Amino acid sequence: MGGGAALQSGFAMGISRTIGEQMERSSWIRRMFEIGIQMRRECGADNVFDFSLGNPDVEPPAEVIAALRRVVERNRPRSHAYMPNAGFPEVRAAVAARLAARTGVPFTGENVIMTTGAAGALNTVLKAILDPGDEVLLLNPYFPEYRFYIENHGGRAVAVETDERFQPDVGRIAAAITPRTKALILNSPNNPTGAVYSEATLRAVDEIVREPMLVLSDEPYRPIVFDGLRPPETLRVMRRAVLAWSWSKAMAISGERIGYLAIPPHLPEAAALVNACTFANRILGYINAPAIWQWVVAEVPEATVDVAGYQAKRDLLCDALTAMGYDAPRPQGSYYAFPKTPVADDVAFIGRLQREGILAVPGTGFGRSGYMRLSLTIARAEMERSLPGFAKAIR
Ligand SMILES: Cc1ncc(COP(=O)(O)O)c(C=O)c1O
Repeated sequence: MGGGAALQSGFAMGISRTIGEQMERSSWIRRMFEIGIQMRRECGADNVFDFSLGNPDVEPPAEVIAALRRVVERNRPRSHAYMPNAGFPEVRAAVAARLAARTGVPFTGENVIMTTGAAGALNTVLKAILDPGDEVLLLNPYFPEYRFYIENHGGRAVAVETDERFQPDVGRIAAAITPRTKALILNSPNNPTGAVYSEATLRAVDEIVREPMLVLSDEPYRPIVFDGLRPPETLRVMRRAVLAWSWSKAMAISGERIGYLAIPPHLPEAAALVNACTFANRILGYINAPAIWQWVVAEVPEATVDVAGYQAKRDLLCDALTAMGYDAPRPQGSYYAFPKTPVADDVAFIGRLQREGILAVPGTGFGRSGYMRLSLTIARAEMERSLPGFAKAIR
């Protein structure tokens, strides 16, 4: 996520203790942002190599911009007004039809709620299912905003370690389930590790999920996979999975805030959950997803940025780091690499990289020390110029 500019000390007059304390805990994002500003001022922007941001560096596909022009030109009557809180019925039906074709699950428009990206989708469903003290399982390392999304709705995040390849550990997940467990968040392709879960893994996790627990499958990176990999369809494989989808990464439109929640018809509580999520979407203040972008994504739902560009940068970076002696396996998807830091103290090593003008996020910021996250959204030329700095740091 971008952001960070407005973050000041959380403990100030009139600011809630909860928010103040959460801002302190989110300090890795803030710290990298502030260090970046300072480094650019001191060393010049050309000498700073920023691997810390997860913001797409490419423009949206031309077909997305063409669809946007068509939607604006067409200017449907009442298309700028309030609509049903779950979104335009025609858009929901179009999204459901694509999803049904892809997954084999008989989705209709009634199963889809248009949201303000995956962040909006997750907050909406968490609001709909959590009572104070309810627990949500996260697989460590994880996207750090999850913890705040859960706490937004009175829930408690419970982190469960993954294995050495960042794959779900079914035994550990089973051991973490309590009568208060309402959900497990899965994120494949994964931020920060780039791991993609196999169908066998999803099936093994599915075995231990019991009502009323849900699997919240957060899949904004699904189209960003490498080497021809096709991630298994979570909604088809897992009985109690709800999909949080976003076009932020697929179309490089993270500022437009468009995604959806899909609640499969085979869930016994599907109708009640759709109603609860529709209401939650409204009272969280989203009201509905951005109107124009609903029509755009309905026209070109499969448009995707050039994934080959990310793959080429992945190969360049991981091969170069490996040759230097780093433990840097190639990620299978998303646009992050998550190599080991050569010393166990990842925060110290991040400081060492900064002396070479390189900004990376320590694994500690995602719950796993001894690693660092490097974003592949950096420009290729900058990546190339950063490599001597990585070599010097490991020496
Ligand atoms: C794993 C993950 N989930 C959700 C989000 C939020 O994405 P969106 O822009 O769709 O709200 C991000 C953004 O970085 C992410 O990395």
